Amino acid sequence: MDQPAEYAILDHLREGCQVIGFDRRYRYVNAAAARHGRSTPIELIGQKMTDLYPGVEATTLYTLLERCLDQRLPAEFENEFTYPNGARAWFTIKMDPIPEGAFILSIDITDRKRAEDSLQEHVTRLEALRAIDLAIVATGDLTSTLEGVLERVVTSLHVDAADLLLYRPERGTLEYVAGCGFRQAEAGQTVVPFGQGLAGRTAFDRRAVIIEDLARHPEPPERGAWFADEGFVFYAAIPLVTKGNPIGLFEVFHRTALTPSPDWIEFLHALGAQASIAIDHGRLYRDLQRVNLDLTLAYERTIEGWSYALDLRDRETKGHTLRVTALTVRLARLLGTAEDEITHIRRGALLHDIGKMGIPDTILLKPGPLTDDEWKVMRMHPTYARDLLYPIEYLRPCLPIPYAHHEKWDGSGYPLGLKDEQIPLAARLFAVVDVWDALSSNRPYRPAWTQTEVFDHIQGQAGIHFDPQIVEVFLRERRARSA
Ligand code: C2E
Ligand code: SIN
Ligand code: SIN
Ligand code: FE
Ligand code: FE
Repeated sequence: MDQPAEYAILDHLREGCQVIGFDRRYRYVNAAAARHGRSTPIELIGQKMTDLYPGVEATTLYTLLERCLDQRLPAEFENEFTYPNGARAWFTIKMDPIPEGAFILSIDITDRKRAEDSLQEHVTRLEALRAIDLAIVATGDLTSTLEGVLERVVTSLHVDAADLLLYRPERGTLEYVAGCGFRQAEAGQTVVPFGQGLAGRTAFDRRAVIIEDLARHPEPPERGAWFADEGFVFYAAIPLVTKGNPIGLFEVFHRTALTPSPDWIEFLHALGAQASIAIDHGRLYRDLQRVNLDLTLAYERTIEGWSYALDLRDRETKGHTLRVTALTVRLARLLGTAEDEITHIRRGALLHDIGKMGIPDTILLKPGPLTDDEWKVMRMHPTYARDLLYPIEYLRPCLPIPYAHHEKWDGSGYPLGLKDEQIPLAARLFAVVDVWDALSSNRPYRPAWTQTEVFDHIQGQAGIHFDPQIVEVFLRERRARSA
């Protein structure tokens, strides 16, 4: 059928132009509009849209066309169009009532729409990579951080599920640490042998695998039953590697077949690389914490070992060190000492007589009073303690007790003859406790004193040997205990 001549001017426009009559038949279609419909003007003229495109009645386009024809209302909108062969296209459509019916102007904006979508896609992907970056910096629980990251990964890759398996060299396995999108909790129990089967070989060979449709894959996956239960059809796995060593596997699952674009695959690899860094960083941080903890524990054990050895040597003082340490810490807390400082005080108390390691048995274990020369040697023990502990940096803050516990409030003590508040508080505190416990115990050079004698002695030495304020707090605490 011929095209009406009055529209000839529109024939070669780039925009699609068509005129639909009140009878819903095509009256005019230019070449561009026919192309948009994958057709030719000749085939269309005189035909009804509803005959050519079954189902078109249900579309917004058709509804608006009817409204334009019947109610003489214009319309303008963006429309996604699906061709009979499944291809999709986007158009800007403008409809105007004209005397013959309706005039439709259509502009193909598919390229612009694709560009927008791909921009959005890039933004989503960048956000996912950024989430991993943040996870790298985060120092919290790595597993929960990874779960959050995987949720973004699933969104940005448009897949149903994803997980991370970590390599356990000691067990020769890859084990689940984080995942999302699974229907069954079983995913959390995933353990696959490293180097065997699809997943295991992917990690071992460090070569990614992408299976678009598991049903067509020659090798059934070793987790076949689980894949079937979950309904997975598509599978991809990216090996995780740091510094050339395998550390695990990043798996992606989908419940319909997928043919990923080169872009998508590249992004999957980027995610794998980023996840490797995140895991490596998390491990470094955790190992560092563990080494610190191990070292701290090792230090404490060492100190306790030394002080125990001292008590053993100074036979009669059995349990003295632990008792004075507990009592000194309790007193320090009563006086409102900060916990950091308490640590140093505890170490100082445990090591207070470490300098006696330098005192010969003949003097230390002498059953009677010391001679002047022997006293000179004995009085060296705080100085020996300082010489021994000062080079050990982490023990330096505990030195006030081993070095100054024999100073006296009136300035008559040793090794320096410090007075009142020149004496470090920890040492003033400790001195009261040490003498209390020494007098309450048997010594090689004398038997234990009675409680009353000890109380009277401490009270009597307030302002002479001891800080009077500390004596007050100490005796109040002792009386509360014994009451
Ligand atoms: P230690 O036996 O642990 O005693 C610590 C501190 O408790 C003494 O520091 C002293 O201030 C007080 N103390 C202990 N026993 C008595 C006592 O019987 N009377 C009085 N008033 N205070 C007492 P000090 O005097 O600087 O002594 C330091 C260390 O020297 C003692 O540690 C002990 O190992 C040794 N030492 C002190 N006196 C004698 C002694 O007569 N014979 C022997 N073999 N060693 C002594
Ligand atoms: C683990 O290795 O125990 C869990 C993941 C990690 O912290 O590296
Ligand atoms: C450790 O015991 O784990 C190491 C700390 C050390 O002994 O140096
Ligand atoms: Fe001492
Ligand atoms: Fe002591």
